[in-house]
Amino acid sequence: MNIIFLGPPGAGKGTQAQRICDALKIPQISTGDILRRAMKEGTETGLKAKSYIDAGQLVPDDVIIDIVKERLQMDDCKGGYILDGFPRTVPQAEALDTFATIDSVIELDVADQVLVDRLSGRRVCLKCGATYHVSMLNGETRCAKCGEELVQRNDDKAETVLNRLEVYHAQTAPLIGYYEKKGLLRKVDGAQGLENTYAAIMKELGA
Ligand code: AP5
Ligand code: MG
Repeated sequence: MNIIFLGPPGAGKGTQAQRICDALKIPQISTGDILRRAMKEGTETGLKAKSYIDAGQLVPDDVIIDIVKERLQMDDCKGGYILDGFPRTVPQAEALDTFATIDSVIELDVADQVLVDRLSGRRVCLKCGATYHVSMLNGETRCAKCGEELVQRNDDKAETVLNRLEVYHAQTAPLIGYYEKKGLLRKVDGAQGLENTYAAIMKELGA
């Protein structure tokens, strides 16, 4: 099954995608993770993306579309995948339609106020992509999955978070209507706890 996770920053796309991909044995394709890895490695794409990401803006469509197109051609995508953070604009969605067939779009719905708290307390592992919230770490500073030191994302600073929310509402939220019209949209309340959200997504996917 080819699935898109749509939702504002902090909605839980990464957290749930990782878990559902483990359960369904399909890859999680997070454009944010791909870009952060490229920045860490100092590649040309990483250098290009850095100023946009740090400002909470979207990187240009042509950069991201090429990355995803190439990634979806890899063998591990043959049995399905979850796109986490792509598409983010109508032109990205239109481009995706030319090289992939999407079966389901899960929209994670969470109010802005909740998102700000989630993002300011988020800690991530840049090695394996695992995501935590300080409230669940009990002072632990290393990743439970791979042992790497956990960090706060640069773009989780308060002022950048507000930019990202604005960008979401202006540029990404129109995709809700785009996929509704195609009959692919499944709305899930992402403000429930982790377990309930997971169960609700699995139910929508019929998994
Ligand atoms: P990206 O990394 O995709 O960031 P984002 O979309 O802003 O989403 P986040 O990763 O911040 O949130 P999430 O929904 O994954 O939440 P999470 O599960 O971590 O993109 C970063 C940047 O890259 C963009 O700003 C842009 O510049 C660029 N970019 C990426 N893709 C692009 C594209 N297609 N086009 C152009 N530019 C692109 O959860 C958040 C926190 O909440 C965690 O602490 C978690 O533990 C906690 N939490 C999660 N679920 C729950 C729950 N149910 N209850 C309580 N706490 C929860
Ligand atoms: Mg994420």
